[in-house]
Amino acid sequence: MTAIKGQIGVTKRPGELGVHSLSVFKMVVPDLTEAEKFYTAFGLDVREEGNNLGLYTVGNPHRWGVLSEGQHKKMSVLSFAVFEEDFEPMKKRVEGQGIKLLDPPPGFESNGFWFRDPNDFLIEVKVAEKTSPIRKVDFGGLDRSVGANTIGSWGRSVKPEVRPVRFAHMLLFVANVPQSIEFYSRVLGMRLADRTGDVIAFMYGIHGSDHHMVAFVTSNGRTPGLHHLSWDMGSLNGIGLGAMQMADRGYSRGWGLGRHVLGSNYFHYMQDPWGSWSEYSADIDYIGVNHNWEAQDHPPEDGIYVWGPDLPEDFLHNYEADQFEGKA
Ligand SMILES: [Fe+2]
Repeated sequence: MTAIKGQIGVTKRPGELGVHSLSVFKMVVPDLTEAEKFYTAFGLDVREEGNNLGLYTVGNPHRWGVLSEGQHKKMSVLSFAVFEEDFEPMKKRVEGQGIKLLDPPPGFESNGFWFRDPNDFLIEVKVAEKTSPIRKVDFGGLDRSVGANTIGSWGRSVKPEVRPVRFAHMLLFVANVPQSIEFYSRVLGMRLADRTGDVIAFMYGIHGSDHHMVAFVTSNGRTPGLHHLSWDMGSLNGIGLGAMQMADRGYSRGWGLGRHVLGSNYFHYMQDPWGSWSEYSADIDYIGVNHNWEAQDHPPEDGIYVWGPDLPEDFLHNYEADQFEGKA
């Protein structure tokens, strides 16, 4: 592995080209006021930026997401980051594969290059800091165990407000999961971590990343969409307190507490006002910069979770497809 100048602890896998981080996403939502309310309750630092909202995690200057208002909810832009010396070689590779490069969308400042993936998501590849973790992320901060003669929990009225530590990953609805695995491997240099047949697949970054940076699940309908955004809480109590924090503010529809098999993270999902989900997550598996994770094809019963409550009926329903295909 090779150390990267100017970024402490950042190393790269030598001799291979690939994105290191999902740097920022852009999503259209039908109502920015609703979005501000939901993501603020969730614990994010939501900032008004012109006509948009920026999604930040408290104490971190990095902007993880940009929300703008439009008729329908739509995940529109995925902006991936590469190391500086990989930018031109990546661009050459993408062009060499016959992929048409596009102008940046209006109003989007960009030092990157742009194209569309097979699902019609607009992809940017740019030079930016590594925001995916450089090591397995700490777990257990709020999971304190006290000694004898001491109260371990909090009172309901004085429980701490919790805030996600970082954006972790997203799961996207796509019409054809194998096609997305192939494209994201060949074009963006990501690798398959695990899959369940052609139904769901998890992709990681080769320069050290969580078990998944992006994942794909089969959509009802042809329209792609966002299934969930995942945010790291760093502890089980962070997840549980997050779910209570949402319930206290009127967002009680969710799924959790549970533990995934693929990625191993603990989870509690909250449904957003548009039918997709925001995941409180902790202790996801990590794939180091020099490790070649052995991807497996898991049976369907392992695809989602090892323990937890029954899945909500619409957990895997792509409401974006309904909107665009005239069912809502
Ligand atoms: Fe997730």
